[in-house]
Amino acid sequence: MSNFQEVLEHIALNFKSVKDRGTVASYIPELAHVDPSKFGMHLIDADGMHYGTGDSEEAFSIQSISKVLSLSQAFAIMGDKLWERVDVEPSGDPFNHLSLLELEHGIPRNPLINAGALVIADVLISHLKNPKADFLAYVRNMANDENINYDTDVAASESKTGYTNYAAANLLKSYGNIKNDVDDVLDFYFHQCSLKMSCRQLTEVFYIFMNRGKCRRGNAFLNINQVKRVNAIMLTCGFYDEAGEFAFEVGLPGKSGVGGGIVALLPNKFCIATWSPGLNAKGNSKLGMLALEQFTTQTGLSIF
Ligand code: DON
Repeated sequence: MSNFQEVLEHIALNFKSVKDRGTVASYIPELAHVDPSKFGMHLIDADGMHYGTGDSEEAFSIQSISKVLSLSQAFAIMGDKLWERVDVEPSGDPFNHLSLLELEHGIPRNPLINAGALVIADVLISHLKNPKADFLAYVRNMANDENINYDTDVAASESKTGYTNYAAANLLKSYGNIKNDVDDVLDFYFHQCSLKMSCRQLTEVFYIFMNRGKCRRGNAFLNINQVKRVNAIMLTCGFYDEAGEFAFEVGLPGKSGVGGGIVALLPNKFCIATWSPGLNAKGNSKLGMLALEQFTTQTGLSIF
């Protein structure tokens, strides 16, 4: 048994008896049904070897983790012109805050907060023939996995209650930073967030960010300099107002979602995903953060 497998199992075992697992997100009603006792961890190394424990093969709503994937597709299409529409500074604010957007005249701080992801969605709608189908095909192609799908119940649930996202999209539109119909942009965004994946699938999809832009089959999705930039954005902005804490505790670029997933990577070495649905006060998976801290501390493997 490899060392990675032992470390994952040791962490999962330690967490079995933990009572305080955070709070499952309920502001998207469909997410509130998820069992808070679920826990999965999965790692893929640079050679494509898989190591997993717990519920690592059960699919869940990846939510904001999808923002890295839409960013990646938009960056591949637009190149550096993309940065005229969205900045690359950490916001220090929660994922759905609007105050900076008004102060900074409709240019979102970064592509991983909601406002930034809405601009990226708008870019994709402008460039893709069948935006939702083409984005799904792009993600499936990254992982070579046709089983990845949207969860249309989750998308519908969020479209009924996503008032702050409607506000953000309308504010962006008022500043001219949304070119398409606001409803089309929100529909695309709610669908991208509804993507369902297991920890194992997440590591397959995010393999390209660990592997200099190339998937397991060697196809290039981003060039090496673009991957450098996306990983830098994950490190500085991937956990909103907890990005500093994640860098401090874990020391890897990564991204969280309110479905309780986190994916993180060490360039050229491994990509790791965790799932524990309970969130901390900042909206990031409580046990996921702790598990990744233990993983990088026990293995001594981080970018620092
Ligand atoms: O827009 C929202 O509120 C959700 N679709 C995604 C939020 C999310 O995952 C924030 N990340 N921790």
